[in-house]
Amino acid sequence: MTQSDPARPEAITFPFGRPGPFEPHERLVSLREEGPVTPMVYPDGTMGWLVTGYSAVRAILADPRFSSRRELLNVPVPFPLMQEMRRPADPGLFIRMDPPDHTRYRRPLTAQFTVRRMKQLEPRIREITEERLAAMEKAGPPQDLVREFALPIPSLVICELLGVPYADRDEFQRFTAVLLNLESSVEEIRATVAGFGAFFRRLIEAKRADPADDLLSGLIADGDLTDEELSNVGFLLLAAGHETTANMLGLGTFALLRHPGQLAALRADPSLIDNAVEELLRYLGIIHVGPLRAALEDVEVEGRLIRAGDPVALSIPAANRDPARFPDPDRLDITSPATGHLTFGHGLHQCLGQQLARVEMRTAFPMLFDRFPGLRLAVPAEEVPMRDTMSIYGVRELPVRW
Ligand code: HEM
Repeated sequence: MTQSDPARPEAITFPFGRPGPFEPHERLVSLREEGPVTPMVYPDGTMGWLVTGYSAVRAILADPRFSSRRELLNVPVPFPLMQEMRRPADPGLFIRMDPPDHTRYRRPLTAQFTVRRMKQLEPRIREITEERLAAMEKAGPPQDLVREFALPIPSLVICELLGVPYADRDEFQRFTAVLLNLESSVEEIRATVAGFGAFFRRLIEAKRADPADDLLSGLIADGDLTDEELSNVGFLLLAAGHETTANMLGLGTFALLRHPGQLAALRADPSLIDNAVEELLRYLGIIHVGPLRAALEDVEVEGRLIRAGDPVALSIPAANRDPARFPDPDRLDITSPATGHLTFGHGLHQCLGQQLARVEMRTAFPMLFDRFPGLRLAVPAEEVPMRDTMSIYGVRELPVRW
């Protein structure tokens, strides 16, 4: 997928996949060395750009001349759901909107996503993690850490945040299982999205009748959003917040097991956890297709003229390993100050759930390593199946023993 298009000798196609479990595609690295902005041909033949340098990626994310409107974007890899892209985002799906629509949805949510609510969730995240670890221990080794730990924790935390009642969690988890399953067909995914819509509409009715101290009740009380919008916002939070954190927990555990010196340093000094989480976010760069943007006008970026209408794909794995920004970028070092990575994006669309993701990781990693001091892979590292052709990178399974 990385060779030039013969009809357009200058243009590359999107370098997809990874050479090793933690490394960005080698072509991304060589492209970044040649220059931060490269002409690229998209699967439908459209010409656009791939951006690999840290300062160029960050500048584009901060620049309102680059749009997030879904109808303007193009996807650099042939995903089955690509055809869904070329139409405006449904009401509430503000990740694919520009201001003022984006602002109208994001502002009330920011008010609901308070540090207070994130802190309130911490004891529950602890309990949820404890339950998962106890279940793993009881079942005995070997276990798949993705199924038993990395996936259920963010899923249950989202339920908690949105105020999904305990009794409905099985239904909720059935939907998420389909959405997260690589083998699900486009039809299954569509049916599940529709099922989710109905689920959220019922939930919203119930919250209207009986509000509680949760995010959906708070948004309903604000009174600014229709039920359709509320339902889509609920769906966006789930979709954006679930797979990402799950993959950080799974791939992050794999990375620490493969860097035993780093894991030992963390065990010796638990106060390193905040920095370790940031460094894992930088080093792993799990968003490996996108963020995506389209130029609204002609813009020059580091010597390249990006024309109005051109689609642009930004590479977080390449930017996070840019030696111009990070000294010794290919080394995982949880003791060196880790700031400035772009794994949560930057600018207007910077991740709304980043504090929540951080609380989840800062809680779950230490509890896992405390509970199982002898945690190790149950298969040779080369046999761990990787999600190298998914938009969010990670491990598909992580068989472990202890
Ligand atoms: C490690 C975990 C996570 C990663 C790596 C991540 C990454 C990102 C990135 C890169 C963006 C920007 C996309 C863009 O600019 O187009 C984003 C946006 C977003 N994220 Fe996250 N995210 C994570 C966890 C979460 C969680 C836990 C939630 C919510 C519960 C969440 C909700 C959102 C939302 C709603 C947006 C859209 C923000 C906007 O458009 O204004 N994310 N995330």
